[in-house]
Amino acid sequence: MILIDGKKTSLEIQDEIKEEVIYLKSKGKKIPHLAAVLVGSNGASKTYVNAKVVACERVGFESTLVRLPDTISEDELLHKIEKLNNNAEIDGFIVQLPLPDHISEKKVTQAISAKKDVDGFHPENIGRTALNLPAFLPATPFGILQLLERYNIETSGKHCVVVGRSNIVGAPISIMMGRNSYPGNSTVTLTHSRTVNLKQLTLMADILIVALGKPEFITADMVKENAVVIDVGITRIADKTKKSGYCLKGDVKFDEVSEKCSFITPVPGGVGPMTIASLLKNTLLASKRK
Ligand code: GUN
Repeated sequence: MILIDGKKTSLEIQDEIKEEVIYLKSKGKKIPHLAAVLVGSNGASKTYVNAKVVACERVGFESTLVRLPDTISEDELLHKIEKLNNNAEIDGFIVQLPLPDHISEKKVTQAISAKKDVDGFHPENIGRTALNLPAFLPATPFGILQLLERYNIETSGKHCVVVGRSNIVGAPISIMMGRNSYPGNSTVTLTHSRTVNLKQLTLMADILIVALGKPEFITADMVKENAVVIDVGITRIADKTKKSGYCLKGDVKFDEVSEKCSFITPVPGGVGPMTIASLLKNTLLASKRK
């Protein structure tokens, strides 16, 4: 079994980006600038947004953190987004999800200019991704593709089973794995809460991508011998033995599944850091496109 090290791969990509920033600086060009909007005080969201800001510093990008109270109205948030859309200093920005219940994620996602949508959530970017046209690829699926590529994992002709159909991971990765490119050219099955006989399908997977948000849902009996297992889930579980008061669990029962697969991503340190690498790559692209 080979452990896919997302942390190391993300840092390698960040080093490549850092070199580009040094080059841009030497040519007197604009330094890429990412803004992140954080609404409310969800602990996990705060951690993720902080990690994104730290990564910007690491590669030499400029960054702006916009913190807003969870009492902000949808209209006020849409107004802030419009201001970021029109701010020439900002090359790309993200609004960290989830948002409070009174704010429509659909409206917010669609309000972000497709040209600054470095998360790759806007319908225009999802559509362009589906058509294999230049686009800001959705950040987490893009991160998964980069891991498959950097670990030289064959995807052509393989049966890829995706568990979970979220707009930000399951649905787009299922499209991307079926595209006529590498990584891609897989035969894809997208499974979800209404899927009958899930285990029968996961057992057929050469590549199993799990993005469900249900800790340790995938057990060894659901995985084919030598499968490639990509675990996107990351859930905080109360743990009094930890200083933070919680531990992180993926959607895959790592100890038993790792015994029988060929490659596996750990949680933490697998797909998570790759989302950040993708975000930085998309921001660099956004800044170059201008
Ligand atoms: N919430 C969970 N994952 C993501 C992500 O990739 N981007 C944003 N904006 N919010 C998220």
